[in-house]
Amino acid sequence: MNSFVIKGGNKIEGEIEVQGAKNAVLPILAATVLNGGKNIIYNCPGLRDVEITIDVLKNLGCKVEKRGKTLFVDSENMNGCTIPDTLMRQMRSSIIFLGAIIARCKEAVVSMPGGCEIGNRPIDLHLKALRQLGVEITEAHGYINCKADKLKGDNIHLDFPSVGATENIMLAACMAEGITTVTNAAREPEIVDLEAFLNRMGAKISGSGSNVIRIEGVKKLYGVEHQIIPDRIVAATYLSCAAATKGSIILKHVNPNHMNAMTAVLKEMGCKIYTEKSRIILSSPVNRLKAVKRIVTMPYPGFPTDIQSPFMALTSIADGTSVFVENIFENRFQHVEELMRMGADIKVDGRIAVVQGVESLGGATVRAKELRGGAAMILAALAADGVTTVEDIKYIDRGYESIEKYLSSCGANIQRKE
Ligand code: UD1
Repeated sequence: MNSFVIKGGNKIEGEIEVQGAKNAVLPILAATVLNGGKNIIYNCPGLRDVEITIDVLKNLGCKVEKRGKTLFVDSENMNGCTIPDTLMRQMRSSIIFLGAIIARCKEAVVSMPGGCEIGNRPIDLHLKALRQLGVEITEAHGYINCKADKLKGDNIHLDFPSVGATENIMLAACMAEGITTVTNAAREPEIVDLEAFLNRMGAKISGSGSNVIRIEGVKKLYGVEHQIIPDRIVAATYLSCAAATKGSIILKHVNPNHMNAMTAVLKEMGCKIYTEKSRIILSSPVNRLKAVKRIVTMPYPGFPTDIQSPFMALTSIADGTSVFVENIFENRFQHVEELMRMGADIKVDGRIAVVQGVESLGGATVRAKELRGGAAMILAALAADGVTTVEDIKYIDRGYESIEKYLSSCGANIQRKE
């Protein structure tokens, strides 16, 4: 089992160029199957989840070549419409291929995505929306079988602004007959990036970033080039690492507008933040960080669930009591037990966690139980007294590209142990 060994106490100080967004690159790679052409995607992060997505594309018959951070995807000879269980199990977000494969092949077979470590993660909203577009769906023996002679636009209202469901609708509807509108759509920046990619391919989509998206079906789409937006969650993780160690950091290749909910909290905790067009500069307060009254996770532009655990690690050493309300995923407090091993004082009742800040954390052996919870453990370890071993770091590699290299370059004492 791979682990990180971290000796805490060093300030995180320096500059980091932020990777491309995992949650943008995955749906955009799925979208490449729509056009049957040659696509060049720039700024793709080197992540396990991207590798799995490449395997899915190859399994469907697409040609994929990787040169550094650039991916070349040629979907002309795509000849499959099935994602086997072995690949679906590795990454739940492969469900995002469903809309794209149906639009291209008029049929799709994917295995049922299993339950995930952060909660139930149902796909009912995806399936209901696809049915509205004319897809016949049957579920048998753990597989979802989809068929559609013709996809037809409709007015789709989402009961919850699901990111994945919104993306699946955009993918399925962009070549459907007529107009599709999505109300109560998710508004995440990654959806805006998907719209930009699809429109560059020739789709006619408007409204992403607002809660109503309009998709006018077109007959044909074309291969294009596209640059992936910066990863706002990774950016906020590095800001928190600097804040946790009384350091200062300059982030390059970021979009500060995507990060307002997170930088507002860091300011409330006493950090000074200065933003430019594509840079963020953070300096920590001289005194202890201050607690935050309430952090409530919400769909964008609210506070992201994905950064809840790193921020909880941060508040665990702040002065005072902070309260977290997790509204998106019911099982996203698994890092609490691990933080408590390091001396944090946290009480959980259902979806609420109350964090009483302690003077300092102490090194311990802890586990990354999921991606963002794993990042939280790294952050806690950087700030703790002594040595921490973070085990099971395969989860962290799903979303953070070479995190140990970036942190080491800013002064961290962190080593990967195979
Ligand atoms: C995406 C992100 C993930 C992030 C999440 C919320 C990607 C690859 N992943 O995940 O990092 O944490 O958004 O910002 O972009 N739901 C249903 N039925 C459905 C679909 C969702 O009930 O059919 C519920 C989920 O259980 C959850 C909520 O809706 O409670 C939000 O899920 P959703 O926005 O769909 O998250 P993902 O797209 O899976």
